[in-house]
Amino acid sequence: VGREKEIGQIGSCIKAGRNVLLEGPVGVGKTKLAVYVTEQLKRRTFRIDGDSRYSEQKLAGWFDPPSVIKNGFGDKSFIPGPLVEAMRAGGILFINELNRLPEGVQNVLLPAIDERIISVPRLGEIKAKPGFAVIATQNPKEFVATSHLSEAILDRFELVRVEYQNEDEETAIVNGGLEGAPKALALAAVRLARITRSHPRVKRGASVRAAQAVAQITVVMIAEGKSLRDAFLAATLLAFPTRIEIERDVEGGVDSESMETLLQEWADAALEGDSAPLKKKY
Ligand SMILES: Nc1ncnc2c1ncn2[C@@H]1O[C@H](COP(=O)(O)OP(=O)(O)O)[C@@H](O)[C@H]1O
Ligand SMILES: [Mg+2]
Repeated sequence: VGREKEIGQIGSCIKAGRNVLLEGPVGVGKTKLAVYVTEQLKRRTFRIDGDSRYSEQKLAGWFDPPSVIKNGFGDKSFIPGPLVEAMRAGGILFINELNRLPEGVQNVLLPAIDERIISVPRLGEIKAKPGFAVIATQNPKEFVATSHLSEAILDRFELVRVEYQNEDEETAIVNGGLEGAPKALALAAVRLARITRSHPRVKRGASVRAAQAVAQITVVMIAEGKSLRDAFLAATLLAFPTRIEIERDVEGGVDSESMETLLQEWADAALEGDSAPLKKKY
């Protein structure tokens, strides 16, 4: 849904042989966008998902010990990782959540994206075919509990900032995942998420993913016999507490009671299409 500008930007960079970093908050649609573009470009794509235990061998490739015993070190015994596969195919390496990769693994990428060549011990140099490029995603610094990308890595990427979409587009996204439910439900769920994003007491608001969850759970609960309002409130209390962060008040903590009160108030406002809670100062 939407994203024409970003799709164009990413496409231009990739066609120019450049690497792209998509940066934006959790749930804004970075992964969806990257996967969509790689499909549109009809390029072979090799995906990795960043996590702190990912190793350099996993990224580049490793030797299979039984095969080494039989055939010795060489191409026959080498099991290529996604980086080597993408380089050999002239394809796209899609690195989801690049900043979660350990720094050592990020450093293996440098020569590959810079000189388009890597050297694998006991195998030799591997050159990238034309067309090889990297698309990566990351959350902005304030959301990250893991390493920041080094200057060296950042210098190799063009940056595409991915912001939240407008209300109409977000409603279309949520509605797309609901079968036969009224569009007003998708709209209410989106309004709820958007209230949390602009409310003065909320430090981290909810994404369209939270809106999707509320709408889907509401549909099930209505089918089970709950009224719209009861179902929507119950779904909100299930889907939102993990996804938003509320500013502590003067006395210290946010107790679960005040989180619940706020969520119920916002859920009612979203159902009515009323934006009063936004204007109310705490
Ligand atoms: N423009 C869009 N069109 C369709 N679905 C979208 C769009 N943006 C986000 N979504 C959906 O919203 C959810 C969150 O998107 P995702 O790409 O996983 O976010 P991120 O990777 O930024 O955390 C997914 O279910 C995704 O399919
Ligand atoms: Mg993602």
